[in-house]
Amino acid sequence: MGLGDLEHRTRELEMACVAVGRERAEELRRALIREGLLVRGARPRREGEAVLFPVVNPDRASELAERFGARLGSFKFEVEERPRDIKEALKDVPEELRDLIPSSYDVVGDIALVHVPELLWPYRLTLGEAITRVNRSIKVVLGEAGPISGEFRLRQFEWLAGERRTFTVHRENGCEFELDVARVYFSPRLSGERRRVVSLVRCQERVLDMFAGVGPFAIEIAKHRRASVTAIELNPEAYSYLLRNIERNKVSKLVEAINDDARRAAKYLPGSYDRIVMNYPSGSLDFLEAAIDVSARGSTLHVYGFASSPDDWRWRVTERLSELSVKVDDISVRKVREVSAARVIAVADVRVGNQHSSRPVNLK
Ligand SMILES: C[S@@+](CC[C@H](N)C(=O)[O-])C[C@H]1O[C@@H](n2cnc3c(N)ncnc32)[C@H](O)[C@@H]1O
Repeated sequence: MGLGDLEHRTRELEMACVAVGRERAEELRRALIREGLLVRGARPRREGEAVLFPVVNPDRASELAERFGARLGSFKFEVEERPRDIKEALKDVPEELRDLIPSSYDVVGDIALVHVPELLWPYRLTLGEAITRVNRSIKVVLGEAGPISGEFRLRQFEWLAGERRTFTVHRENGCEFELDVARVYFSPRLSGERRRVVSLVRCQERVLDMFAGVGPFAIEIAKHRRASVTAIELNPEAYSYLLRNIERNKVSKLVEAINDDARRAAKYLPGSYDRIVMNYPSGSLDFLEAAIDVSARGSTLHVYGFASSPDDWRWRVTERLSELSVKVDDISVRKVREVSAARVIAVADVRVGNQHSSRPVNLK
């Protein structure tokens, strides 16, 4: 299907409107928007010296009209026909493939990241275009062109629609994050989990974010709890966004960023962290010993991992802690999100026992 099939369609509709002289038109337009009275998706018209605005509620609009010396009436307006969802926008995909049309996608800043099923690949550009039509705040659509992989947890994308860029600014839980979706890891699906962890932090805590990425856990904790955070990130690109985001969110007095391997950094960090965030589901267990080394007595670790179920993850975390002879006071495990039918990301909140002796504080 060609992109022409998705060109914006319009039709004419008779609607109630207010007509005002050109000199007061902009002022009235703003007032109508403020009051929620302007019809969205219909273009105002110029008729001689007057500008006509279509309105949703003529009774309420008449009060405003009076104040602006405007007249109430009705006229034909061009209305843009916007599809309600992607399926409606993709009318020409054959019937047998329609069930495959994705009904959702991730949104990072103003970029949509969409998984395109293999059989829909020939329709991917139209799909991208459809997403920009349905959701006007989306300026770029990228198709996932492979799994998340490698140490830095990156994914390849193919451009589908909109502007040709992979940089954006994402807003989450009252913070802003600059990032490049093709060069760093970031998932908007973790925003609820980040809110949960932030809610557990007390302001005097010392927190270690071992796999900080562009900084969402570290920065949200610092911003909302005023706790001091050490944030480690190995990927130099993610680290440079981490630095920018620390500045952008005005938490540079609270967050210290380190560009290093978390295990190596644990050897020179002063130790005694009250809370350690280990958001590296594909490798967190390999870093548990380093985390224990820098944890304070009675500290809490948030250990993320891929597993077949939360119970499976509880079992694996418990086994690793027992190999390390770590005494645990409490462990609670929950599903963070489903990755596939047989795989979840789970988090174990581990309270390390008071008897546990962490490495003596290194005063170098
Ligand atoms: C799953 S991402 C999580 C990022 C971040 N916590 C978030 O919520 O967006 C894991 C991050 O760990 C980083 N990483 C991988 N190996 C590392 C290591 N050995 N030491 C420090 N960071 C590492 C990756 O580059 C990636 O940014």
